[in-house]
Amino acid sequence: MKIATRAERIEPFYVMEVAKAAQALAAQVAGSAEPMIFLNIGEPDFTAPPLVQQAADRAIREGRTQYTPALGIDPLRQALSDWYAQRFGVDVPARRIVITAGASAALQLVCLSLINAGDEILMPDPSYPCNRHFVSAAEGRAVLLPTTAEERFQLSADKVQAAWGDKTRGVLLASPSNPTGSSIAPQELRRIHEVVKAHDGVTIIDEIYLGLSHDEAYGQTALAIDDNIISINSFSKYFNMTGWRLGWAVVPEALVPVVERVAQNLFICASTISQHAALACFAPESLAEYERRRAEFKARRDYFIPALEALGLPVPVVPDGAFYAWADCTQAAKKLGVEGSWDFAYAVMERAHLAITPGRDFGSHDTGRFVRFSTANSMEQLQEAIARLRKLLA
Ligand SMILES: Cc1ncc(COP(=O)(O)O)c(C=O)c1O
Repeated sequence: MKIATRAERIEPFYVMEVAKAAQALAAQVAGSAEPMIFLNIGEPDFTAPPLVQQAADRAIREGRTQYTPALGIDPLRQALSDWYAQRFGVDVPARRIVITAGASAALQLVCLSLINAGDEILMPDPSYPCNRHFVSAAEGRAVLLPTTAEERFQLSADKVQAAWGDKTRGVLLASPSNPTGSSIAPQELRRIHEVVKAHDGVTIIDEIYLGLSHDEAYGQTALAIDDNIISINSFSKYFNMTGWRLGWAVVPEALVPVVERVAQNLFICASTISQHAALACFAPESLAEYERRRAEFKARRDYFIPALEALGLPVPVVPDGAFYAWADCTQAAKKLGVEGSWDFAYAVMERAHLAITPGRDFGSHDTGRFVRFSTANSMEQLQEAIARLRKLLA
């Protein structure tokens, strides 16, 4: 069968390859003294809180299951607008909020609405692999710019200015980032946006980990800077609803009808049941639970990062948000007699029954040196993971 070049350009998601190998091994070692520990998965280990589950149940029983408007149900758009006001002190009118099937659909809608064939979008290396594929699905080209620890693995205004060419259409950033958990300093983001504006380009920022911030200096939304910044978000991470497939985009006023038209045709709407359920995310009881969980994510980070570093797995930028550790495995790999993060991840999986993600998916600059640990797992599992690594690397 002849496959479209568009599809051929999309590289495999190597994380999934490693995950498959880990699952296969997990079945073999299930009854052993060391069953598999999964630190490769980028999703919260928590599920939606009780009020959200009950609201979903109610929506189903009451038959609120028909299509919704393409932009989403108004009460949910309003609830998000209120959340921005209360939590971030930012005025984001409900009419600029588009409800989508996860951040993934929001990114598709925005890319399809703004990118022409051949347009180039600047992104940091490393970054979340699917984001560059949303660009290429819209026939654009993601240009990955190498970043360093000193830059918090994020783009800088100087770098954006230097890389801007005839075909450049804009930037696609993520803050906090997956795989590093590090955010862009607000002043730098402001400067980047100035550069983009001067070139009449677009600033798209994936803020899917926005609520999961562990550091006052970085927890603000980019929407505080300018109404023309496009922000992508989701119920997957802070709201612990990955499989419910619900997210949103905040777009400038002029883009709303365009995104609406594309969404009507491509998706009709996001899951109706999930939309009704998500209203309960904003009940005081649910918000209190989310904050308790955020504190738990921070406690895990505060335990795990120093413990990794003590084992010779340095984390050059302490993550200020999300639930990842981007660790340099050069020395640790040598100790195991292997080279590079791909072989290191497999060695750790096979010898310590610990699933982690090699850097390869996230770009090509230095990613052979780095592995990503996810700390979205219980403290007990994290402690056991450290104990096994200690034994392995002794
Ligand atoms: C940076 C980033 N953007 C987007 C997504 C996609 O999330 P969603 O479940 O909302 O589609 C992920 C998921 O891991 C992510 O890490």
